[in-house]
Amino acid sequence: MASRSLMLSTLLLFLSTFALSIPLQTQTCPKTFDGRIPQNFTKQTFTTAQNPFNPKYVLGHNQTWDQVIDFPDVPSSIFDSEAGTKPVEVELTDASVFVSGSEGRETALRRAELLVNNKNQTVSGKVTWMFSMRTSPSPSLALNLSHEYLLAFHEAQDFQADFWSLKVGLPMQEALRGPNGEVLYLQGYKWAQPMQTYFMAPFTRNVWHNFGLYLDFVDNKMQIAYSTGAEKLEIVTPLLANNISGTPPTTLGETHFGLQKRPVGANITNFLFNGFQPEGIRERLVVGGVLQFLLWVASASRLV
Ligand SMILES: *[C@@H]1O[C@H](CO)[C@@H](O)[C@H](O)[C@H]1NC(C)=O
Ligand SMILES: *[C@@H]1O[C@H](CO)[C@@H](O)[C@H](O)[C@H]1NC(C)=O
Ligand SMILES: *[C@@H]1O[C@H](CO)[C@@H](O)[C@H](O)[C@H]1NC(C)=O
Ligand SMILES: *[C@@H]1O[C@H](CO)[C@@H](O)[C@H](O)[C@H]1NC(C)=O
Ligand SMILES: *[C@@H]1O[C@H](CO)[C@@H](O)[C@H](O)[C@H]1NC(C)=O
Ligand SMILES: *[C@@H]1O[C@H](CO)[C@@H](O)[C@H](O)[C@H]1NC(C)=O
Repeated sequence: MASRSLMLSTLLLFLSTFALSIPLQTQTCPKTFDGRIPQNFTKQTFTTAQNPFNPKYVLGHNQTWDQVIDFPDVPSSIFDSEAGTKPVEVELTDASVFVSGSEGRETALRRAELLVNNKNQTVSGKVTWMFSMRTSPSPSLALNLSHEYLLAFHEAQDFQADFWSLKVGLPMQEALRGPNGEVLYLQGYKWAQPMQTYFMAPFTRNVWHNFGLYLDFVDNKMQIAYSTGAEKLEIVTPLLANNISGTPPTTLGETHFGLQKRPVGANITNFLFNGFQPEGIRERLVVGGVLQFLLWVASASRLV
């Protein structure tokens, strides 16, 4: 189903030969970031310095995080289960118009992204992101998969490139389109020609989609592990070449988790201001257990 759904450039579909279950060792491995949300967090806590993500960004100009965050009634993700932490839901509405220092009012985008910034240790060296995502339990808050959404991405320090991005929905650019938008896909460096798509999976509703993303900023390599529901992660790609470290002043940068809804009828150079966004929207994504380890947890567990 996934391979029929998108006719994207270079595709390395996962093979069972890479399958390797990864035991979770979240307590013992050194972490470079822990974005798991304690049970006692309220919506209000997200506006304070206790928020492990940035309490001010990236959301609508006139919004605060307490208006964007909710706590959905869904089973814990695998990375939350062990820590007893809880998932969050982010919401896009017509008010989700971000005003950036460099670009101004991004009228054609809708944004509600949990932001990890000013944390060099998360965007250098050799690290592994773990995170889970799923649809809202409420069907009336579904995404509109006629649009392209970024669900997670690493943005360069100068904000002009994404080193990797996890997306869902119909790709904004016609050249990358297939018939169906109900597919998760992980792409490489935004300006690569052709842009690489390293992994795809059906965006099945009402189940967790769990990712382990190894990033080697020293050698410009990454590797993807994936599972659904409560299953352990399995490595689903070989070690992949990707330009994740940039060159000054693009190096380092920041990582986003949540929803960035792109317009239809625009392209990669004009989508901040051009193209169409329907009005009257309410759309949500559930995010669980965002954390980052030093090193590749998979290789660590192989040695144990
Ligand atoms: C949650 O509980 C912990 C431990 O008691 C406490 O340190 C923290 O301040 C509490 N956080 C909130 C947002 O209430
Ligand atoms: C935020 O509110 C101010 C004051 O009403 C308004 O001028 C501005 O355009 C709003 N920003 C956005 C992005 O809608
Ligand atoms: C992060 O790296 C930049 C560039 O090397 C440096 O200017 C900055 O001081 C570093 N920040 C921290 C907190 O180490
Ligand atoms: C989904 O998006 C398309 C393109 O913007 C729009 O035409 C359509 O009305 C939207 N569907 C819903 C249910 O909002
Ligand atoms: C890697 O990324 C940096 C910054 O985003 C860019 O300047 C550089 O040209 C890219 N290298 C390649 C080989 O694409
Ligand atoms: C994007 O669209 C604009 C306006 O139609 C056009 O001028 C520009 O060349 C397009 N860019 C790309 C990369 O397709």
